[in-house]
Amino acid sequence: GEVSGDVQVGVEAPGGSLRSREVRHFRVRLHSEGQWGGWSDPLIVEAGLLDAEDWVAQAITIPEDPGSESQAPSPLLRHEFTLAADVARARLHITSLGVHEASINGVRVTDELLAPGWTSYSTRLLAATHDVTALLRSGTNAISTTLGDGWYRGRLGWMPGEDRRRYGNQLGLIAQLEIDLVDGARVTVATDETWQASTGPIRSADLYDGASIDLRLEQEGWDQPGFEADGWTAATSVGFDPAAIQPRMTPPVRIFTSLAARAIEGSGNEAIFDGGQNISGFVRVTVQGAPGDRVTVRHSEVLEDDGSLHTKSLRSARATDSYVLADTGTTGLEPRFTFHGFRYSGLRTAASIQTVEHVAISSDLPRRSAFACSHPLLNRLHENVVWSQLDNFVSVPTDCPQRDERLGWTGDAQAFAATSCTLFDAEAFWTNWLKDLTADQDPALGVSTVVPDVVLDGEARYGRAGWADAATIVPWAVYESYGDPHVVQAQYQSMRSWVESLVGRRRPDGLLEPGFQFGDWLDPDAPPARPWEAKADSAFIANAFFAESARLTAAAGNVIGAPEDEVAGYRDLADEMARQTWSRWREHIFESQTGCAIGLRLGIVPLDQREAVVDALAEMVREADGRISTGFLGTPHVLHALAEGGRFDEAFAMLLRQAHPSWLYQVVNDATTVWERWDAIRADGSIHPGKMDPIDADGDEGHMLSFNHYAYGAVVDWMYRYLAGIAPDAERPGYRHVLLAPKPVAGVDWAEASIESPYGPIASRWVIEQNGDLVVDIELPSGATGTFVPPVTPSSHVTVDDQPADAAQVHLERGQHRVRVTRPQVSLSRRPETGEPSMEQTI
Ligand code: BGC
Repeated sequence: GEVSGDVQVGVEAPGGSLRSREVRHFRVRLHSEGQWGGWSDPLIVEAGLLDAEDWVAQAITIPEDPGSESQAPSPLLRHEFTLAADVARARLHITSLGVHEASINGVRVTDELLAPGWTSYSTRLLAATHDVTALLRSGTNAISTTLGDGWYRGRLGWMPGEDRRRYGNQLGLIAQLEIDLVDGARVTVATDETWQASTGPIRSADLYDGASIDLRLEQEGWDQPGFEADGWTAATSVGFDPAAIQPRMTPPVRIFTSLAARAIEGSGNEAIFDGGQNISGFVRVTVQGAPGDRVTVRHSEVLEDDGSLHTKSLRSARATDSYVLADTGTTGLEPRFTFHGFRYSGLRTAASIQTVEHVAISSDLPRRSAFACSHPLLNRLHENVVWSQLDNFVSVPTDCPQRDERLGWTGDAQAFAATSCTLFDAEAFWTNWLKDLTADQDPALGVSTVVPDVVLDGEARYGRAGWADAATIVPWAVYESYGDPHVVQAQYQSMRSWVESLVGRRRPDGLLEPGFQFGDWLDPDAPPARPWEAKADSAFIANAFFAESARLTAAAGNVIGAPEDEVAGYRDLADEMARQTWSRWREHIFESQTGCAIGLRLGIVPLDQREAVVDALAEMVREADGRISTGFLGTPHVLHALAEGGRFDEAFAMLLRQAHPSWLYQVVNDATTVWERWDAIRADGSIHPGKMDPIDADGDEGHMLSFNHYAYGAVVDWMYRYLAGIAPDAERPGYRHVLLAPKPVAGVDWAEASIESPYGPIASRWVIEQNGDLVVDIELPSGATGTFVPPVTPSSHVTVDDQPADAAQVHLERGQHRVRVTRPQVSLSRRPETGEPSMEQTI
């Protein structure tokens, strides 16, 4: 097929939709400047099982599983079968109610963890297809599988005793092995009641509580053919809906690194280890002991003053793995079907500890970018944000990975979406999660506050401002970053539905009905136990986000060619909401950083008033010595609002501030991920008490403190865009057109960043030379163009590739370019021309 036009991203391949099991080979070549180029390497695409009718497998489990009542041993399921000839090709299509690990003839089928991940199971259950040709042979074979509770039946939420079985009582393995033999025969081996069931060493495994493993109960050889399955029973089948099964479309969870942990001073009878980094994952330990010896591993993000593990923040999550040894000699231990959020581990055992590794897991997203500069604290901030993304992208985008929560909070997701897309190739990850968002959306009540929708009830469950708006903000961020319109195409009806539900909640005066809102959650000036009581009025925020969601829906409609009157309708609605919000809250907007930032960035402030609001914001920041005073909703916008208003001194004063509260305060206080509260470690070095006003009916005091929440990490996107100077352009998204506007600042001598765009790598590196000139090296791939905006003073000269150039802006084509700017504008430095005082001293 030939596709004409200059579009290079999201071009549909010829041939229409794939059929189940179909394999296609694609190659591409380009015709440009009158000539055909060479063919690309082939890309092989193979479909899994796409239709419910393709599944002959039943869902099976162990009969009378006590796990349907409380945490219990993990079911083992096995099956033997004979193949009459060698295997030409074999595929295992597999999913489960609960999580699973599968082996064939004793060899693990995949290194994926926690498969099939977490989705809105009642409508979406993801199945993987694995090439298992090499694991099978002529003769007898065995397939064996262990099941765990995972998100399906394990704990979700903060109500111990009531928080299991959110999706169902029974686990179920659904596996279908399709084998082509060399003699042309096709054999299908599928889960049914002829499979055998038992239990083994995993006595319990829960995502929050950890795993308990008794190695004495290992059934040697159970995963091999020829095993005497004495005492095993026949598996029993469990009802499930094959129509919910969809092919996995998002990267699986895997181990991505392992850190050698260092022994530090112990506490009581617990040996404490420091992995040096707050991670999501587990401890892998080798010990030498005697049969019956116990090993207990606990986890924490920080240590108490006395050197013991701080576990209060885990709330009811036990986060403890325990083992009973079966042998003398060296034994390697690691948990199954669980993960923990931690930097420190504590081991109690009579056995001798040989090695301790902290093993980090995450959804396996490719890194997409790199950033470095001469300011070590900014580099560490960047790394901390990368880690918070890794740690919180374990199948779904979570708020935090350690306590009894770990939910797909939509507010955190929208705050961080753009940043996550800059740091990693997160397109498939978000596209998948957005399908869950749509699945759990209620036409009248709106988008659920957590996706997948579990745990919450009452007013907090749906339609909260700045949370539910993930429905519009996330797809748009993905589109801007990757340039493929399919994501907005897929989400457009969900975006519309969200906006229509808001329309249904308008009062006669046109503004939204007031109601509970999370608002600018965790504003540092809110009472610590009442994080919703932010300075910015949450009714203002709700109406502002309404305007924004309507505007983004119009923009999306425009991209996908929706009917013009429909698009115009959303545009008018956005304008009207903006007008009304401005007229109702115009004074209030001027009163807080969040008011100004949201007013400016969500288009509430009319054009002729923008300068006044920017001035007010800048003045507030200046007076506060760069002190941050925004919560979850204001923080992603505040530096952008300053930058778009040209106020870089104030933006950098905030970014570079090290006193509390600020981004770098966390870094100088030894953070290795981004904290939930600006003062998770308080200025006196103590751990924040995390108290929350009573939240449950019994009046139990809540506790909320995490050292690994990514929302405030959204600032890193600003660092790419303005410090390094690489930004996508929503008009020509996916970095087809790149905005290159680095802003040098006193205290940073050089900065560089690169981003893997769909067109190829984009890079920018600037340095201030000895003579004070700014030199910027830029690389643009074929298919992309750039606009470079030089940071000039009135006396600057600009050259591009040694040719004099326009000081206002420079158009760049593909290739390598060097821009030189004499007497550049450097934020936070003294102004020789004007004598204007700098803010340098204030930070
Ligand atoms: C979560 C947040 C979430 C918030 C909403 C917290 O418990 O950890 O990240 O957005 O609640 O209220």
